[in-house]
Amino acid sequence: MSYLLNTWYVAGWSEDVQPGALLTRTLLEQPVLMFRDAAGVPRALVDRCPHRFAPLSMGKLSEDGQSVQCAYHGLHFDGHGACVHNPHGDGRIPTAAKVRTYPMVERYGILWIWMGDATRADAALIPDFSLIDPEHWHVGKRYLHAKANYVLETDNIMDLSHVEFLHPSTLGTPAVKNALTDIRQEGNTVWSMRQTVAETLTPFLYGSLGYPEGTLVDRWFDVRWDAPANMLLIAGGTPTGRPRSEGRESALPHLFTPETATTTHYWFAATRPKAMGPAGAQIAQKIADGLSMPFTHEDLPMLEAQQRAMGDADFWSLKPVLLSGDAPAVRARRVLDKLIAEEQAQG
Ligand code: FES
Ligand SMILES: [Fe+2]
Repeated sequence: MSYLLNTWYVAGWSEDVQPGALLTRTLLEQPVLMFRDAAGVPRALVDRCPHRFAPLSMGKLSEDGQSVQCAYHGLHFDGHGACVHNPHGDGRIPTAAKVRTYPMVERYGILWIWMGDATRADAALIPDFSLIDPEHWHVGKRYLHAKANYVLETDNIMDLSHVEFLHPSTLGTPAVKNALTDIRQEGNTVWSMRQTVAETLTPFLYGSLGYPEGTLVDRWFDVRWDAPANMLLIAGGTPTGRPRSEGRESALPHLFTPETATTTHYWFAATRPKAMGPAGAQIAQKIADGLSMPFTHEDLPMLEAQQRAMGDADFWSLKPVLLSGDAPAVRARRVLDKLIAEEQAQG
């Protein structure tokens, strides 16, 4: 499968890589080893020793935390991929004893990885997720693993007309498919906007928005997409007829990184302002738990069933029927396809 390489992918939440521990994850079909060096800086390297190709993740971090020792014959590699210790012979370091590393940046409580040409890695290209920055927000973070292609996940978030059908007891009401929709594109960023009017919500939604049951609510869901599949859903509501500025709004990131062509890492989160104190932290966790239910038991089985039904076929080769709500997801697919084609044309 062709992936966009010169872009920032999510490799995990900051908490996933703990000091003194090794974490291995397959990203874009590459085994990646992550750890924090002695200064706490997250490092990412190919999880394969250049001697006899043992996974370095079977080894251990050195006592000073600066290098990983291969479990097989004991070579040590640091966070820059350099072999820093050879316990054999005269201890000379063979020139070929190097491991490829990937640029990694920790920002907004997220570990971002650049799988392409390291000289082109520019942290300024990381999309803005300051709405979940742990400095100002309590963040309830979750992870799911999906046996489905990551672009099917983009379809799922960019087209929320499915919530009435797939999530009738939690997230959806018939008002959503009849919502006012809009699509916007700024450069390679695509926005999918959806606004309902005078909606009667589910108890779960009244709970998370904090309005008394029965209140007629105008809701909005604005999803920002950036390649490859990093989305920020801004969901909010007001009692009907009131301006958005009086409403309650929160940001829900949906971040997808392909593990393989047919499996995906999925990170999502719910937030509440730090200013709410410890109660805000509990509410963020509660909302994240509340969302985990439909995401795990409704979206995930659907996405995995779609993937099984599609098999290995290319999405467009199956000639998908297009509905009115598909425009933003299709736009995002087109942008992604264009970026991949441009990258391949550059060689
Ligand atoms: S395979 Fe790693 S040192 Fe031999
Ligand atoms: Fe869904």
